[in-house]
Amino acid sequence: MIFETHCHLYDEKFNEDINSLIKRCLENNVGLIMLVGDNINHSKLCVEVSKNYQEVYASIGVHPQEVDSVDYDQLENQLKSLLTSKVKAIGEIGLDYYWKNDEITKNKQKKYFIKQIEIANKLELPLIIHARNSVEDCINILKKYPCNKKGVFHCFSGSVEQMKKILKMGFYIGLDGPITYKNSITSKQVAKEVDLEKLVIETDSPYLPPVPFRGKINYPYYLNYVIEEIATLRNVDSKLIENITMENGKKLFYI
Ligand code: NI
Repeated sequence: MIFETHCHLYDEKFNEDINSLIKRCLENNVGLIMLVGDNINHSKLCVEVSKNYQEVYASIGVHPQEVDSVDYDQLENQLKSLLTSKVKAIGEIGLDYYWKNDEITKNKQKKYFIKQIEIANKLELPLIIHARNSVEDCINILKKYPCNKKGVFHCFSGSVEQMKKILKMGFYIGLDGPITYKNSITSKQVAKEVDLEKLVIETDSPYLPPVPFRGKINYPYYLNYVIEEIATLRNVDSKLIENITMENGKKLFYI
């Protein structure tokens, strides 16, 4: 069975009840699901839903593009108030320089990122890191402010060199639908070379659907397309990828 380590099933793009969505996933070979929050409200929703399913876990955190949605001084209390035994990570957090990369934006994102690493350490949780056009800065921050329980660089789109640096820090690499895209040459190379013991798979759904669903809504049960692509690239059986990424996901989130 598949471990979907990163999805946003609460997203309104689905235009569908989150419970029916989860049930369909569980009926379609998705064995475990990590619901990932991107702000306080969504994190709360992930936690609430995770209570109802043995197979569903929650990650709580404030995404770099959501830093204006919560007061810096309130961040710790707000996140701590959501804590249950089903909360297995702090995320997604990190840096996003894709939309805006002026110094004021960058500095604010860094401040929130560092604060949430500190909170993860207090709560003894790993991180789910969002690094868009910012892998080097994320690596540098993590070197200066290490997370005891490590974590994952989710939807990794960096180079093989950066992937090696991340593995050296003890973090996992999360790969998604884009590795099935023809032009994702670097990501395919990462999928080929990444240490299999440090690989997890995810959809980031409803975003980033794999081929042949580009331009449509993505669902966790499309992960078999990601698994197939990795298996083909590495010339191994897809069952091996399915099983090992399940085990890796459990290790990553201490499940
Ligand atoms: Ni995400």
